[in-house]
Amino acid sequence: MPEEIETKDDEGLVDPISADPHFDETESRIGIWGHPAHAMTVAFPVALTFCTLGADALYWLTGDAFWARAAVWAAGTAFLFGLAAGLTGTAELLMVPGIRARAAAWTHFVIAVLLLAILGSNWGYRLNGYETAVLPYGILLSGFAVLVVSVTGWHGGKLVFDYRLGTSKGN
Ligand code: HEM
Repeated sequence: MPEEIETKDDEGLVDPISADPHFDETESRIGIWGHPAHAMTVAFPVALTFCTLGADALYWLTGDAFWARAAVWAAGTAFLFGLAAGLTGTAELLMVPGIRARAAAWTHFVIAVLLLAILGSNWGYRLNGYETAVLPYGILLSGFAVLVVSVTGWHGGKLVFDYRLGTSKGN
């Protein structure tokens, strides 16, 4: 098999993962007219997570209840759009053989599930009084969420631009 020959190392050993005939088949399957749904949905949770921290900071600075209300809406929509991104990403992971085969894709899944747990907590915590929730725990959760969403988004970009996940029809 040509794939086996290509994946042999200096000692003639074969990597069974990269020898999988579908290893290079990573083309996205979830999309609208070939436009990948995961890439379209991820922008919303990323932006809204940053907005939540911004609104919390402005509430801390001004004491204006408007910002606490803006924060609870931003936190809720970040979580709901995050779930949508999680669903499209999980469908790609399970349906595309070249994505399923790579450990890096599963690492992204684990980081993203942690992120969804933080986003859900940040929203749920605010539902019993959005103003009192901001200081200190709301803003701390928002800061943590910004950190984790940055890692998740950066890692997702690596999957696409370094590993070519979502883009290759295979050999
Ligand atoms: C929870 C399960 C998730 C899984 C299994 C998953 C899986 C993937 C996969 C396989 C890719 C490669 C491109 C593709 O095939 O679509 C990707 C890209 C990406 N992911 Fe996720 N993902 C998940 C959640 C998230 C979340 C919650 C975020 C951020 C809020 C995120 C951010 C990204 C970004 C920014 C990219 C790069 C998109 C691009 O530049 O085209 N992912 N993800």
